[in-house]
Amino acid sequence: MSGGTFQAPKGVPDYIPVPPGERGSSADFLAVRSALLAATAEAGYGYIELPIFEDTALFARGVGESTDVVSKEMYTFADRGDRSVTLRPEGTAGVVRAVLQHGLDRGRLPVKVAYAGPFFRYERPQDGRYRQLQQVGVEAIGVDDPALDAEVIAVADRGYRSLGLDGFRLELTSLGDATCRPQYRELLQDFLLRLELDDETRRRAEINPLRVLDDKRPHMKEMTADAPLMLDHLSPEAKTHFEKVLGYLDALGVPYTINPRMVRGLDYYTKTCFEFVHDGLGAQSGIGGGGRYDGLVEQLGGRDGLSGIGFGLGVDRTLLALAAEGKTAPSAPRVVAFGVPLGDAARDALVPLLGRLRAAGVPSDMAYGGRGMKGAMKAADRSGAEYALVLGDSELEAGTVTVKDLASGQQRSVPLDAVVDELAGG
Ligand code: HAM
Repeated sequence: MSGGTFQAPKGVPDYIPVPPGERGSSADFLAVRSALLAATAEAGYGYIELPIFEDTALFARGVGESTDVVSKEMYTFADRGDRSVTLRPEGTAGVVRAVLQHGLDRGRLPVKVAYAGPFFRYERPQDGRYRQLQQVGVEAIGVDDPALDAEVIAVADRGYRSLGLDGFRLELTSLGDATCRPQYRELLQDFLLRLELDDETRRRAEINPLRVLDDKRPHMKEMTADAPLMLDHLSPEAKTHFEKVLGYLDALGVPYTINPRMVRGLDYYTKTCFEFVHDGLGAQSGIGGGGRYDGLVEQLGGRDGLSGIGFGLGVDRTLLALAAEGKTAPSAPRVVAFGVPLGDAARDALVPLLGRLRAAGVPSDMAYGGRGMKGAMKAADRSGAEYALVLGDSELEAGTVTVKDLASGQQRSVPLDAVVDELAGG
C-alpha cells in the first residue's frame, strides 16, 4: 500500500496527549503507572530496568513450556547473529535472571525490586487484551516469609486504592508446595481421567490438570464441581504458611476472598497465589495478579531453596477499571502558564520568559505562529493551563505582563521581572 497511512499493529494501544479522562489519555497512563510505582517505593522496592528481549530459553524454562504464554503467545525471532530471542511476555523470569547475573542474591535478602514497562503476548486482541501490554511489577526474592506475601499483596491493594479505585476484589489461594502438590496433582488427575472428557480436555488433564478446573463451560463446571481441591490437601507447612498470610492481611486491613479454584496462566507458582479482579471490565477482568515461586530461582540456575514472590499489575486494565468506575487518575497539569503574545515584539519578550519559567519548574507553553488574540486565548484554554500570560504593546511599554487566571477569569498586572517568582512561588 504505497502512499497510504499506517495503523499501529493489531492489538497494540497508543496513549496520546488527549485530555485526562478521555480514552487513550497518556496523562492518565502516566498517573496510573506512577501511582502504582509509588506504592512499591513506599515499601522499599528499588527500581530495576530490564531488557525488552531476552534469550528465548529463559522464558521457555522459567515460565513453563506447557503454558499458553510460552507455547502459543511468544514473539520469538532469530536476530542477525542467529540467536533465538523473545520479546518479554512477563517480568518475573527476567528479574530472576538479572538478580542471579549480578549476584544480588548474595547480598542482603530479600532482594526487593520493582519494574514497569511493556510486555508482549500474541493473544487474540479484544477489549482489555492487548498484544503489547503494560505492567507495574515487583519481585521479593530470597526469603520465604508469609509476612512478605502479605506485604506484596498489600502494596498492590494500596496502589489501586491510591488511584481511587475500589470496585475490585482480591482473590487468593494456596497452590501447595513440593511435598503436597505432586500428590494432589495425581489425585486430581485420577478424578479427571475418570470423567467423560473431549480429546483436548483429556490432553490438558494429562499435561496440566489444574488448568481443567478453570474450564468455564457449564458442563465442565458441573462435572468438576466435586473435584478435589488443593486447599483441602495442603501439607502442614503449606497450610500454616497460608493461614499466616491470611492473618497478616487481616492485620493490614486488606480484604480478600478465598478462591480455591483459581488457576494462573504461568507455571512457576507455589503456595500463595492471588488475583485482583474488577467486575466492570467484562471478560478480561484480571487487573493484576501474582504469587510465590519456590522453584523458579533454582530452575534458572540459582541456589536451591531461594523462594520469591511478586505481582504484575496491568496498567492498561487499571485504566479501563478507572473509566468503568467513572474516575480519572489525579494527574499533573500539562502546563501551568500559557503565553499569549500580541505581536512580534511581545513574542520576542515571551520566548526568554518561558525559558526562565521552565527552568524555575513552571511548565509553560505559548501560542506560536502569530495567531490573533482570540485564537491564542482559545489555545490557552485548550492547553489546560492555569494562567494565560498576555503581552501586548501597552504591557511591553509598562514592562508588565497581564496574568489571567483561566479558571476564575480574574486578571492582574505583574512586572515582567517578577512573573517567575510569582508563579514559581505560588
Ligand atoms: P499475569 O497474570 O500473566 O502475571 O499478568 C499480570 C497482569 O497483567 C494481569 O492481571 C493483567 O492485568 C495484565 N495482562 C496480562 N496479559 C494482558 C494482556 N494481553 N492485555 C492486557 N493486560 C494484560 C504475570 O505476568 C506475572 N509475571 C506476575 C508475577 C510477578 N508473578 C510473580 N511475580
